Amino acid sequence: IEEAKIRYKAPIVCILGHVDTGKTKLLDKIRRTNVQASEAGGITQQIGATMFPADAIETLTQKLPNLSLSIDVPGLLIIDTPGHESFSNLRSRGSSLCNIGILVVDIMHGLENQTIESLSIFKTKNIPFIVALNKIDRLYEWSPSKDEAFLTTFNKQSGHVQSEFMRRAKETILEFNHKGYNAALYYENPDPEEYISLVPTSAITGEGIPDMLGLILNIAQTKLRSSIIYQPKLEATVMEVKTIEGLGTTIDVILMNGVIKEDDNIIVSGFNGPISTRVRALLTPMPLREMRVKGEYLHHKALRASMGVKISAQGLDHTMAGSPLFIAKNEEEIPRLQEEVQKEITEIFKSINNKDKGVHVQASTVGSLEALLEFLKQSKIPVSSINIGPVFKKDIMKAQTQIEKGNEKQYATVMAFDVKITPEAQEYADSCGVKIISDNIIFHLFDRFTKYVEDIRK
Ligand code: GTP
Ligand code: MG
Ligand code: NA
Repeated sequence: IEEAKIRYKAPIVCILGHVDTGKTKLLDKIRRTNVQASEAGGITQQIGATMFPADAIETLTQKLPNLSLSIDVPGLLIIDTPGHESFSNLRSRGSSLCNIGILVVDIMHGLENQTIESLSIFKTKNIPFIVALNKIDRLYEWSPSKDEAFLTTFNKQSGHVQSEFMRRAKETILEFNHKGYNAALYYENPDPEEYISLVPTSAITGEGIPDMLGLILNIAQTKLRSSIIYQPKLEATVMEVKTIEGLGTTIDVILMNGVIKEDDNIIVSGFNGPISTRVRALLTPMPLREMRVKGEYLHHKALRASMGVKISAQGLDHTMAGSPLFIAKNEEEIPRLQEEVQKEITEIFKSINNKDKGVHVQASTVGSLEALLEFLKQSKIPVSSINIGPVFKKDIMKAQTQIEKGNEKQYATVMAFDVKITPEAQEYADSCGVKIISDNIIFHLFDRFTKYVEDIRK
């Protein structure tokens, strides 16, 4: 088994699903954390990553009645994504590097808009997935047995609870059928190649979580065995770009294959061209802790895939989330890798340039900036300029050009998402008639902008 743990990497599992179906809460239950409660509005707005070591998973799956599973992998690296509709770019990014998926469906709601979106992501990327049919504890008169395997607790329920469960499960299965998918409760699945497996779960009571983890491991270690063999050739993607006190700008990277070391010469794509820099610190959260939560980081000399890694280095300020990360073995390799990485640059800055009418948009990370831009596009609010990080006077001046150009007053606005406004910026804005709308929930920005436009009309 120990040999196997070197041969294989931790499968990368991506959780997708409609907003508030319980994706983060399920992970909280497994981690024994409460990340969800600290999210603004209880909504996930960034990609997260947590390493679940094999021994933790072994303990968690012990309640499975007929478990004949030996764990050959070093653990599971689970990627949490936002379910809110404006974050489809993050769902797409999060899923692009996973081996296997969990689609979370609220048993009380059945299939919803982002459930359908998630289904098509898994389908187009050809990612095998299971469905967690979550919130079973909300069934009327459900009697919980903490952390039990599903059938153990199900068999203890009264007749009407059991039939209510079956009714809702069948309804969801029918909805999958209407979308062109076969689906079955996992323990009745006649053919996992043809039918999606549904695992009933509760993120509150922990029921069904042993089944969910057991099933994921089972698929990873059978069907996906060849795709989780560790490969020495580096494969890594930047998930988020974040400023951390004491560390400066850092990048959160998912290491899918290969090794990354302190002092490695890394190359990533940036908004102003390729970035080449040396790894100053290689950090991870503790095992069973979420990367996106500020906390204590462990320092490493080298890390091997799979892993969620925070990298601190000079010059990362304008890194583009979603960029691949390369390591140059020597100086000669740098130009070629820079060229390669730049090919991947997204269209976002290009699409914003040269627009002369629109608001100024500012966000804390590239990921949230992209999400906000997508949201504003859908909401038909034009954008003339963008930036990342705290709002300074120079950012207000960008919005001020709207007044100088004689554009409608509402465009002399800074939409600030999850960033600080410096006092000088606020003062300058007040003096020159620029409105700052600041919030840490994306769609509140829209509501407040709409209200501002109405106020101006009055
Ligand atoms: P987004 O990341 O914003 O898309 O949401 P999410 O899918 O991560 O859902 P989240 O974990 O934020 O949970 C949403 C709400 O549902 C919270 O109030 C949770 O406490 C509640 N919830 C989640 N899972 C369960 C469950 O199994 N049972 C019950 N009763 N409530 C749940
Ligand atoms: Mg969440
Ligand atoms: Na939520």
